[in-house]
Amino acid sequence: MTDKPHGLATRLSHAGRAGAKVHGFVNPALHRGSTVLYENMAQRSAHMRRRFDQALTYGTQGSATHHALENVIAEIEGGTRCQIFSTGLAACTTPLLGCLSAGEHLLMPDSVYGPVRTFCDTMLKRLGVTTTYYRADCTAGELAPLFRPETRVLYLESPGSHSFEVQDVRALAACAHRLGCVVLMDNTWGIHAFQPFLHGVDVSIQALTKYAGGHSDVLLGSATTNAEAHWRTLRDAALVLGQYASPDDCWLTLRGLRTMAVRLERQMQSGLEVAAWFAAQPEVAQVLHPALPGAPGHELWRRDFTGACSLFGVVFKPGVTVAGTHRFVDALRLFGIGASWGGYESLALPTTGFVTRTASQLGGAMVRFHIGLEDVDDLVADLRQAVRLLTEATPE
Ligand SMILES: Cc1ncc(COP(=O)(O)O)c(C=O)c1O
Repeated sequence: MTDKPHGLATRLSHAGRAGAKVHGFVNPALHRGSTVLYENMAQRSAHMRRRFDQALTYGTQGSATHHALENVIAEIEGGTRCQIFSTGLAACTTPLLGCLSAGEHLLMPDSVYGPVRTFCDTMLKRLGVTTTYYRADCTAGELAPLFRPETRVLYLESPGSHSFEVQDVRALAACAHRLGCVVLMDNTWGIHAFQPFLHGVDVSIQALTKYAGGHSDVLLGSATTNAEAHWRTLRDAALVLGQYASPDDCWLTLRGLRTMAVRLERQMQSGLEVAAWFAAQPEVAQVLHPALPGAPGHELWRRDFTGACSLFGVVFKPGVTVAGTHRFVDALRLFGIGASWGGYESLALPTTGFVTRTASQLGGAMVRFHIGLEDVDDLVADLRQAVRLLTEATPE
């Protein structure tokens, strides 16, 4: 035996399993339930005192199925404690509610996942919390003047899931900590490839709906931390709000996680091949794929990430209109038109209207691609047959 830490695929195969508790079966059991019965009052009291642990007290506090999933996520994120949420969005918004009070201030990247922005601009605003949006690829020096005495939270999402800015997490988190703020990060893109706590993140958020679930049939989220104080804030917010995730979805996500490393390895390779194909097309101004040499953020990606997923953007030259991107996407046969990502199937989505930055700031009309598990030659052939429609109207 050596002390070398196990690789991701090994950890995903072994974490969260408890053979003895399930009569030797390989997989954790699926526990559904609300009421938990005790043998006597002393046993009940002992469980009730463990509100912040994986105690079995009532359905909303989770079951052994939830706890198995929490243990796997904490393990791969490099944290100590994890809370599961019903959706990725709930995993973004609940920690924000837990950390912020009326009169306080929050710093959000301008690339942030749209519904989180809506949450800040509506509910948080109504509750008296002010949000300032900062340029996602700013330096710590540029961010520092935006902190106010009442700033409590720095939120990160790296890379942005529509405009793909890679953030200098270490420098930005250090700046926030110097000013006494908590650092929350949406780490969904880098679930397998970015270790948030080594870079100073306090709470790492995952939309498990994406590559963890992996089959486009589950919605789930998680927030993980490595510090007791942040854990208490998170857990308290989840319990007070009655947050709960279906054990069936937790079980499906556990099942998805077992194969996540191999899926992501294949999807990363296929994604890079398709991204490189796009980079060579005359209609393309820029490919926003942090793992592609020469792409924006590539140097930071090389420094901080050990891999990539298969979600990236393509910005077209000014000759390509939004209508042209719609014709192109309509003509694709193997790419679904739809939101979300991380499943086994490829998707294409024109992103005008989704990104905070305007098309002119991005340089042109844009399409976001998610590359699935299809044969990459088939995907490229499909793109090739549709590409002329970017600049040419469909014949009547
Ligand atoms: C970056 C990012 N975070 C969070 C979410 C929310 O996840 P869910 O769809 O599970 O609510 C999404 C969904 O697309 C996302 O792209």
